[in-house]
Amino acid sequence: MTDIDLPAAPPGVPLAVRWDAGTLWLLDQRLLPGEVKHEAHATGESVFAAIREMRVRGAPAIGIAAAFGLALALKDDDHLAGHGWLERMDERAAWLCTARPTAVNLAWAVRRCCEAARRTAPADGAAGRAAIVREAEAILAEDLAICRRIALHGLDLVPDGTRILTHCNAGSLAVSAWGTATAPIYAAAALGRKVSVYADETRPVLQGARLTAFELQAAGVDVTLLTDNMAAHMMATGEIDLVIVGTDRVTANGDVVNKIGTLGVAVLARHFGIPFWVACPSSTFDAATAEGAAVPIEERDAREVTHLAGIEIAAPGVKVRNPAFDVTPAELVTGIVTDRGRVRQPLADGLARLLGSA
Ligand code: MRU
Repeated sequence: MTDIDLPAAPPGVPLAVRWDAGTLWLLDQRLLPGEVKHEAHATGESVFAAIREMRVRGAPAIGIAAAFGLALALKDDDHLAGHGWLERMDERAAWLCTARPTAVNLAWAVRRCCEAARRTAPADGAAGRAAIVREAEAILAEDLAICRRIALHGLDLVPDGTRILTHCNAGSLAVSAWGTATAPIYAAAALGRKVSVYADETRPVLQGARLTAFELQAAGVDVTLLTDNMAAHMMATGEIDLVIVGTDRVTANGDVVNKIGTLGVAVLARHFGIPFWVACPSSTFDAATAEGAAVPIEERDAREVTHLAGIEIAAPGVKVRNPAFDVTPAELVTGIVTDRGRVRQPLADGLARLLGSA
């Protein structure tokens, strides 16, 4: 694997998460593409709300934000010491993990920070909090390196002329920078390959229309927006060569939990014989959960379905379902690109080999 000379982030794409002298700066992604606004977060409550309200979203970005959020949530507890402080840390950590239940990166990052604090056996809360901040900074720096490695491991999936369909936003805005699904695409484009991306709009929150289309366009990558129900037609007419999506959790058997609608795209890709690839950091692999059916699927506010830009578009009072994620069975997945390499079928064996041997 040779390195590619990539800048810190795709040109023109704002960072989703930044830590600066004790303040967490989060891009408010609810305002995109109309307004690019970073908000300062100085308390655990405000980070919790930002995650729940999807100002910050995307599995790795949520994990990074929560890691810093844990340090902020303990800001008023420096006077506690020893066991009392550790108990408080565990309580705040458990609370933060409830902000969004599906993406495993959130719990993974928070657990990592707690373990780091425990390892330092802090004499007081201030020392424990400093250990958490150091770990959160390490998670942020590692995420950037991980996305670059995903770019390299996935690069040959995207030869010159590839037409790629993606769903939701597994782009730069969902991570530290470069994205997971988009990382090989950005890298191929940086090498001068002609690539075309078709972005599903991704009802109901429209991450494809508002975020994926925005960031690829800003970075100068050819992107075309589709409504979700157009994917079948595009595949049937031979206009898609490859599907790449991100994921919020991959279970031990290789099931892929990702944004609602991913399952439909995977079924279509199988029908039309189009490779269906998933890209994710190894922290998205949840070896402790046997299969996708055991993953809690977040059910969000009905207003996301009944309203568009604040305007009610549905029959008033109609019953609504709003599961935010679905499970794509492992057998529909061609392969998974991770920072440690690629895995093909059978996914369970490949993942255990690749990620167990870290
Ligand atoms: O609800 P969201 O916007 O947080 O969902 C995001 C996704 O489903 C992404 O595809 C996934 O988190 C991978 S991001 C690299």
